[in-house]
Amino acid sequence: MTAKWDPQQYLKFSGPRLRPALDLLAQIAVENVRTVYDLGCGPGNLTSFFKDRWPEADIIGIDASVEMLDRAREAHDPAGGPQIQWQQADLTNWRPDAPADVLYSNAALQWVDDHKNLLPGLARNLRDGGVLAVQMPRNHKAPSHALMIDTIEASPWADKIRGARGLPPVMEPEDYYDLLRPHVSQLNIWESEFLQVLEGDNAVAEWTKGSALKPYLDALDEDQRQVFFDDYSVRMKEAYPKRADGKTLFPFRRIFIVATR
Ligand SMILES: C[S@@+](CC[C@H](N)C(=O)[O-])C[C@H]1O[C@@H](n2cnc3c(N)ncnc32)[C@H](O)[C@@H]1O
Repeated sequence: MTAKWDPQQYLKFSGPRLRPALDLLAQIAVENVRTVYDLGCGPGNLTSFFKDRWPEADIIGIDASVEMLDRAREAHDPAGGPQIQWQQADLTNWRPDAPADVLYSNAALQWVDDHKNLLPGLARNLRDGGVLAVQMPRNHKAPSHALMIDTIEASPWADKIRGARGLPPVMEPEDYYDLLRPHVSQLNIWESEFLQVLEGDNAVAEWTKGSALKPYLDALDEDQRQVFFDDYSVRMKEAYPKRADGKTLFPFRRIFIVATR
């Protein structure tokens, strides 16, 4: 899926979005790293961490979104800064030019369909001992997502937006084990549920506005979009009320996969 991304909206919550990315990075144990691909790199939030971790490696950020890549270039290519390559590509059929040392993907592959081919295809493009590291939200049964569907069904534009995004293709942890095990020597899969503490008004709706809700908003005209978002926000405020300290809690489940070839 190559939705149009809004880096500014996405970066509103760059703090809580970073924590799982770093948890994933911490579990990659691989020596002599020469090439690291950041698949679905977005605005490049992680790419400079890779440069710190593997200073000698070539770091290549891949993303389908021109807006995200522009933002990444602006933020991370200051004169004298680390040299990172940014490439536009759709991950659906993407493969590295040569077997890679690290294929890393944080919060991106849930946007790409057909995991039954995608993930083994990536694993087969690692060098021996190379690592495929993937983190994806597995939160599509949470109220934040259920209320998207309720809002769509209650809106006068249901027919127009219902099909804007299918269910995320993210599978059960056991299914990823069965899928990847024939292609790798070690497999480490786990889930975490983060109790995210968000600042600001209407915080959870603002969060999904920069990610899962976006395809639906994009399918609407400008004036319809605001009406739709307001209705969704009312439902979300009830489901995720502010706490006594003014913060909003957003429990968020994520799956992590670290596969070593
Ligand atoms: C939620 S952002 C994650 C960005 C970054 N990895 C991070 O952790 O901050 C998802 C990114 O995946 C990219 N993406 C989605 N589908 C894609 C596809 N089929 N090919 C390439 N990139 C894709 C989007 O453009 C977006 O930048």
